[in-house]
Amino acid sequence: MIILGIETSCDETAICLLEHQEPNKYRVIEHIISSQIDLHRKYGGVFPALAKREHAKNIVPMLEALIFSPRLSHPEIAKKISRVKFSVDQTAKDSALEHLRAKEPDLLQHIEASILTTEKISIDRIAVTTGPGLEPALWVGVNFAKALAKLWDIPLVAVNHMEGHVLGSLVINDNPGPDFHTLRSLPEKSVALLISGGHTELVGVSHGEDDNNYSYKILGATRDDALGEAYDKIARMLNLPYPGGPNLSRLAKEYRDIAGNESSPVSIPEFPRPMIHTNDLDFSFAGLKTAVLYYLRTAKNISPYEPKKMRHDTFDVGDDVKKIIAYAFETAVTEVLIAKTKKAIDAAGAEALIVGGGVIANDYIRSELARLAESNNIPILLPTKTVSGDNALMIALAGAFTKDASDYNEILAQGNAKIDK
Ligand code: KG4
Ligand code: ZN
Repeated sequence: MIILGIETSCDETAICLLEHQEPNKYRVIEHIISSQIDLHRKYGGVFPALAKREHAKNIVPMLEALIFSPRLSHPEIAKKISRVKFSVDQTAKDSALEHLRAKEPDLLQHIEASILTTEKISIDRIAVTTGPGLEPALWVGVNFAKALAKLWDIPLVAVNHMEGHVLGSLVINDNPGPDFHTLRSLPEKSVALLISGGHTELVGVSHGEDDNNYSYKILGATRDDALGEAYDKIARMLNLPYPGGPNLSRLAKEYRDIAGNESSPVSIPEFPRPMIHTNDLDFSFAGLKTAVLYYLRTAKNISPYEPKKMRHDTFDVGDDVKKIIAYAFETAVTEVLIAKTKKAIDAAGAEALIVGGGVIANDYIRSELARLAESNNIPILLPTKTVSGDNALMIALAGAFTKDASDYNEILAQGNAKIDK
């Protein structure tokens, strides 16, 4: 089956053409991601109305680029997929695009002026992220997918973004091309740790006889900030550019690399390990932000009793202070992640650990999780670099595993959609 995946849940517009052959073969035919990071940088975070506008602007030309991609002309691929001209009369076209008139006028304009209304590709289904994510951003993908499904007369399936992150870890090779690869397989029971800018959760993943029919249960989740969000907010206090996560973790690494060799002139702060000893599998990272804020205020001789204006609190401190804060913060959050993930593995009797989400680009967290899996004698499934962040490959794959196409009218964007099923 050939699936077109569409992802617009946050600040990445992504589309992917994936071929899946039962039970476990796949090839990536084409795969395009357009990141809005540079645009959101000046707001210090993702600005939903801007994200929506950018998705609406980008998605049509991206799909045109995909259907005209030279990769589709490779003889091995051209056997399976072709570009075909089609025609629908004005009434059918109006009906396919009708809901865009009220909901997505920008998108309607782009689509009406596009080749997509006269040429399509021979695919079996469209899979679109319906949540969780930023609702205005999600709607662009959902409304676009609906219009395309009607216009091209192709079944549509709704995909949960977090399920995408879980299944993305089964992909071993994300290079587009004619070669088929084998998906990793999962034991009957696994635990997935999903850590991104919007989410932090531990999910129990299981399947019965049918390897590709998974059930999911949320075992624990953050009660306030997501892990990536905590990284980004602390980076902002330290005046590091957005997205702060990679910058903060680079400083932590620089400190860690020297920590073993030199004694630091500044003592390392001992930040709290929130909820590390609680019996549940939940997380909380907001308190750490406050701990860092108070540490910085003290360092700058600002009274801790000054009103808290977190969003505007940035501090001008030297590189050495930035490094020890980054190091102390990363050490604290990693300890919490490891403790809770271990508890989840034990409680679920998991035979594999899956990790997904943008924060997994973090080498230290990656290596500590790998150590945890090793000490529990279970494999760890980490996604490739491209599949770690938001992408449409994982959405297309989850779409391939979805049994039946969804009822068109029931497909809605849901900002707080849950993975449980
Ligand atoms: O999954 P993702 O690409 O987007 C969503 O949030 O869905 O994750 C992005 C998040 C951002 O908060 C970013 O700062 C964080 O992942 N991140 C990192 C690192 N690379 C990205 N956090 C810590 N260390 C990193 N190396
Ligand atoms: Zn994500």
